[in-house]
Amino acid sequence: MTNNTAVSDLISRSNRLGADPKNTNYAGGNTSAKGTETDPVTGEPVELLWVKGSGGDLGTLKDTGLAVLRLDRMRALVDVYPGVEREDEMVAAFDFCLHGKGGAAPSIDTAMHGLVDAAHVDHLHPDSGIAIATAVDGEELTGKVFGEKVVWVPWRRPGFQLGLDIAQIKTANPQAIGCVLGGHGITAWGNTSEEAEANSLWIIDTAAAYIAENAKPEPFGPPLDGYAALPEAARRVKAAALAPTLRSIASFDKPMVGHFTDDERVLEFLASAEHPRLAALGTSCPDHFLRTKVKPLVLDLPAGASVEESIARLTVLHEEYRADYQGYYDRNATADSPAIRGADPLIILVPGVGMFSYGANKQTARVAGEFYLNAINVMRGAEGLSTYAPINEAEKFRIEYWALEEAKLARMPKPKPLASRIALVTGAASGIGKAIAERLAAEGACVVIADLDLEKAQAAAAEIGNSDVAVGLVANVTDENAVQAAVDATVLAFGGLDLVVNNAGLSLSKALLDTTVADWDLQHNVMAKGSFLVSKAAAKVLIEQKLGGDIIYISSKNSIFAGPNNIAYSATKADQAHQVRLLAAELGEHGVKVNGINPDGVVRGSGIFAGGWGAKRAAVYGVDEEDLGKYYAQRTLLKREVLPENVANAVFVLCSADLSHTTGLHIPVDAGVAAAFLR
Ligand SMILES: NC(=O)c1ccc[n+]([C@@H]2O[C@H](COP(=O)([O-])OP(=O)(O)OC[C@H]3O[C@@H](n4cnc5c(N)ncnc54)[C@H](O)[C@@H]3O)[C@@H](O)[C@H]2O)c1
Ligand SMILES: [Zn+2]
Repeated sequence: MTNNTAVSDLISRSNRLGADPKNTNYAGGNTSAKGTETDPVTGEPVELLWVKGSGGDLGTLKDTGLAVLRLDRMRALVDVYPGVEREDEMVAAFDFCLHGKGGAAPSIDTAMHGLVDAAHVDHLHPDSGIAIATAVDGEELTGKVFGEKVVWVPWRRPGFQLGLDIAQIKTANPQAIGCVLGGHGITAWGNTSEEAEANSLWIIDTAAAYIAENAKPEPFGPPLDGYAALPEAARRVKAAALAPTLRSIASFDKPMVGHFTDDERVLEFLASAEHPRLAALGTSCPDHFLRTKVKPLVLDLPAGASVEESIARLTVLHEEYRADYQGYYDRNATADSPAIRGADPLIILVPGVGMFSYGANKQTARVAGEFYLNAINVMRGAEGLSTYAPINEAEKFRIEYWALEEAKLARMPKPKPLASRIALVTGAASGIGKAIAERLAAEGACVVIADLDLEKAQAAAAEIGNSDVAVGLVANVTDENAVQAAVDATVLAFGGLDLVVNNAGLSLSKALLDTTVADWDLQHNVMAKGSFLVSKAAAKVLIEQKLGGDIIYISSKNSIFAGPNNIAYSATKADQAHQVRLLAAELGEHGVKVNGINPDGVVRGSGIFAGGWGAKRAAVYGVDEEDLGKYYAQRTLLKREVLPENVANAVFVLCSADLSHTTGLHIPVDAGVAAAFLR
């Protein structure tokens, strides 16, 4: 875009500031630099503003994430500014100040950066700074903590007027290096990039040091009897047992993915006497409301409460939360407010156990949890020095239901077909299962890959994406405890479970007289018993979540087709196939669909074929092992080789919205084998 050092300095400063969570929350804050380039139209010098655009995170900001505006035109906006009542109109006016193609879309904070008369400006959301900004006596504290170097700016919703206010404060206070924005964050400036960065860090560190030295010892109040954290293993067990119900609460209006953390700062907050009062006050920084809602749902039972007791109480609290949120909307909405976006909590706090946060995908859910942790840090600082006093409800509403935020949401790309769905695929480190996991993830699902070998499972997951997308874990499906542990790990990783694929399997093709009891048991244990165990543990979650779901069995052509030398494998495949029909009949009332797929002759990528079976089959048919796929293809009606992806496609179709009314079905994916037609 440019080789201006103002830009490279801005990017490296932004990345350094954004990399340290003490400086700003994820995707929070923005930075800018002013500089001069030659206008390609006139050949004359032109003054430009490079400012972080809307969206994205400082820690990973690149020059493509910057909006580029002409300063003369930006400054001229002051003359046409119609006043604070119509300040939102200025956002559209920024588009008329862009230089060249303009880069990223200018954010609401652009005015602050453009109007403040300093070459470099940082606007950040540090926990330490927001603690001062949300203290009831924040103005007085600002003087005490920073002296005259930092000026207090009373709360105002971000926008053109806030930019004008800060510009005026800078002019009136030549000694100042920045300001504390009431209820919100900080802004610092400098003549050079180094100076701006040093000033930002000085404000952040000075606030943190002041809090460390002056805060009272128990900012959240004394310990609350019975609310101390459970031991780690016990809180994980309770978290997993509660997760399906909690997801049903968070997903009543719209399906959500979850994130769980038992971070000690969350546990400490919940173990202290003041947590109910503070949680009810809600968060304050404008970045937070869309991600965390104005306040969390807090379970008001001690750590030792049983799962049943907790679920009963949560059901009542959910009703109250929804009524309370509807009340907040009704009290504050005006005729032109966007429609209510759902009344379920996005943050649920369980004393002794931890915090569950929710979002339309895993990354959003995780970041919501990070934001609430920021809020806890802020409350600790503010209560340590004074009294936490976030902005009032009406102002929170003006941010949460801001027309500009609504427009941003409307611009978001349409979610993928399986977005917010969570899948568990057994035997997915190899072959067909791996292709299924890849396809489900490509369609937007979060995927858990369970297999016998942890390293292979994790490697398959890493090929798909980071832990926001895919997780690999070890589970032998023949072991009831291991299966339960895999389902628990799934609900702790992503908040719940929607799509279950019974794929784990193996094949030992032998004649009746050669089939040992061990051969029989192994195949029946992995396939018939293994899928029974997985379906059983998973169905409990599906039923409690009340979100429907899919269970899919990768059965086989051999569940229908009768040929020699396959007694144990084909019999257990027929068992799996009938489980499909039995469970479709049983789980339909819970909205859970159960379907099967009958593949055949999937040679490529299959561990079953590579593990000796392929060589044997090739020898039986008198072809080279590498030609086995082609040989099978010639036996089919369509003369096509069946690939793992073909099976994966069928899994996707079965759990996509298009087959919402289909259960108890088997789909052959065998390129056409008349002897295995279903009738
Ligand atoms: N390949 C074919 O032609 C074909 C045809 C019809 C049906 N199938 C079925 O498709 C499924 C996948 O087969 P594939 O061809 O991809 O084989 P594969 O060997 O490549 O994959 C099977 C996976 O299951 C895992 N597994 C085995 N036992 C397990 C256990 N006890 N617990 C957890 N994981 C276990 C294995 O480690 C392996 O990663 C199997 O159920 C198989 O019977 C395959
Ligand atoms: Zn801000």
